[in-house]
Amino acid sequence: MDEATYTIWTEKYRPKHFKDIRGQEEIVKRVKAFVEQKNMPHLLFAGPAGVGKSTLSLVIAHELFKETWRDNFLELNASDERGIDIVRVKVKDFARTKAIGEVPFKIIFLDECDALTREAQQALRRTMENYTKTCRFVLSCNFSSKIIDPIQSRCVVFKFKPLKKEEVFKIIDIICAAESINVSEKAKEALFVVSGGDCRKLENILQSSAAVESDITEKTVYSLASQARPAEVQDILTIAATGNFVEARKKTLSMMLDNGLSGLDFLKQVQPEIWKLNIENLKKLEMIKLCGEIEFRLVEGSDEFIQIEALIAGICYLSKEVGHATASGHK
Ligand SMILES: Nc1ncnc2c1ncn2[C@@H]1O[C@H](COP(=O)(O)OP(=O)(O)OP(=O)(O)O)[C@@H](O)[C@H]1O
Ligand SMILES: [Mg+2]
Repeated sequence: MDEATYTIWTEKYRPKHFKDIRGQEEIVKRVKAFVEQKNMPHLLFAGPAGVGKSTLSLVIAHELFKETWRDNFLELNASDERGIDIVRVKVKDFARTKAIGEVPFKIIFLDECDALTREAQQALRRTMENYTKTCRFVLSCNFSSKIIDPIQSRCVVFKFKPLKKEEVFKIIDIICAAESINVSEKAKEALFVVSGGDCRKLENILQSSAAVESDITEKTVYSLASQARPAEVQDILTIAATGNFVEARKKTLSMMLDNGLSGLDFLKQVQPEIWKLNIENLKKLEMIKLCGEIEFRLVEGSDEFIQIEALIAGICYLSKEVGHATASGHK
């Protein structure tokens, strides 16, 4: 194997230019305009994991500063255990000197801002104000609602979305062509489902699948993602809905063991499949309610197998009757 085999694909295929970023069109368009004018407000990037927040901030740095980007771009993690104080010291050191080159400011990228307490965010806000002349901040978080209003009002807020199916497929095609691997249509679909639009997850699963086989199949994708195939889950639910508890229980346990699924993993796959069952809607609603109860118990630390058996029992029961059953039986 050559050396390139060992590079992590999320880094190897991290977009270097605006045009390489998939999806997020509106955001990319507006940010590109800031960069072209060499003038930029503070930015707040919010959105789920692996959708291009860090990537876009790196592209901004590359495009604005070109070869001097390392001198003008500082990346910090707000959730660093040493907390906001170290952030302030580092910002102060970095912001003390003027930007090199023709852009009149430097950029500080602060990741995971929603991990900061409200007090720490107040301190960050003062830091942002103190250095506005020499620095622009790009803040990144999962939920903008966790960021205090005074910071939000100082930033242009961009909300990133999970990547859509066609964007995920495009990325798969590009990587597969470059790596000379084949992916069946079903495997592509599976990659989209297990990634949930998270491109980091997608690329990691694709890379581990490619290490196993050069013709990637649906089965490998699900097993590497520690997920059951949706068809298998549907099969179990259909059996449970006929009232065959023993058979449904047996299949569930062996599927959980085969795929290394935790109780919560299994439950999260069951829940979306319930709606596809061929039974009355009212029964489905009761089952979905039951999933909520079981999920709560699992999160609280109940025994996984007992809870999953209770779930299967509930589904068997509810498919016959409606209105009497809860996770705890008759009420
Ligand atoms: N929109 C995108 N287009 C193409 N590739 C992407 C995109 N978003 C993410 N990627 C790929 O996924 C990897 C991880 O993305 P990135 O670091 O930007 O995620 P993030 O949004 O900052 O997530 P987190 O909240 O976990 O920090 C990138 O290195 C890149 O390979
Ligand atoms: Mg990031």
